[in-house]
Amino acid sequence: MKKIGIIGAMQEEIEALLEIMTDKVREKKGVLEFYCGKYEGVDIIVVKAGIGKVNAAMCTQCLIDNYKPDAVINVGVAGAINDDLNIGDIVLSTYLQEHDFDVTAFGYEKGVIPRLDSSKFYADKKLVDLAYSFNNDFKEINLHKGVIVSGDVFVSSRGLKDELESKYNAYCAEMEGAAIAHVCYLQNVPFLVIRSMSDKADGNSPKNFDEFVLSSAQNAVRLIKDILSKM
Ligand code: ADE
Repeated sequence: MKKIGIIGAMQEEIEALLEIMTDKVREKKGVLEFYCGKYEGVDIIVVKAGIGKVNAAMCTQCLIDNYKPDAVINVGVAGAINDDLNIGDIVLSTYLQEHDFDVTAFGYEKGVIPRLDSSKFYADKKLVDLAYSFNNDFKEINLHKGVIVSGDVFVSSRGLKDELESKYNAYCAEMEGAAIAHVCYLQNVPFLVIRSMSDKADGNSPKNFDEFVLSSAQNAVRLIKDILSKM
């Protein structure tokens, strides 16, 4: 894999990558700005999608259409759902699911998308394993493999947090990953979602998010650098 598309929702999530990439060229496609360049000999295309599933899906399709990446990595922060996770820890997606997809009126389980082969979008196992192989290099941060759920909601209550854990066995929640995974699944492009915890998706999450968004985003970028250097 030599051409990797990297998507973050917010500037904070891609800033550190923009600083370290070389041969950087900015290309505007509609409302999106793609930064094309290199890191450790790998071609990378870095883009800020904006927040939420629609922005993420639109950006992913545009990335695939224009650059035909060998794989897509979504990088950023998330709210921890699993109580074993600490702020800063990293979750590598096993699969992703859209937790706000609700056709329960027709008897479907919450999160199930009718008339689609699967509502669980599995990350590329080779990318997951490569990322996880750096676990020991992160002393103060733990890497986990787990389910990541996405919805157009910032999770900040014990009630929703408990529901996401019991219904989906979610490790963390964010607002874009499953949409990116969904598009990659439809377009047959391998992908991985890497999220570092900025908060614990509880009553303190807005305050914690503001405090930790930058440092946690940098943890996730640090792991991407490791991955790119072994490709
Ligand atoms: N991204 C970071 N923290 C989040 C939270 N608590 N809910 C949804 N998305 C997030």
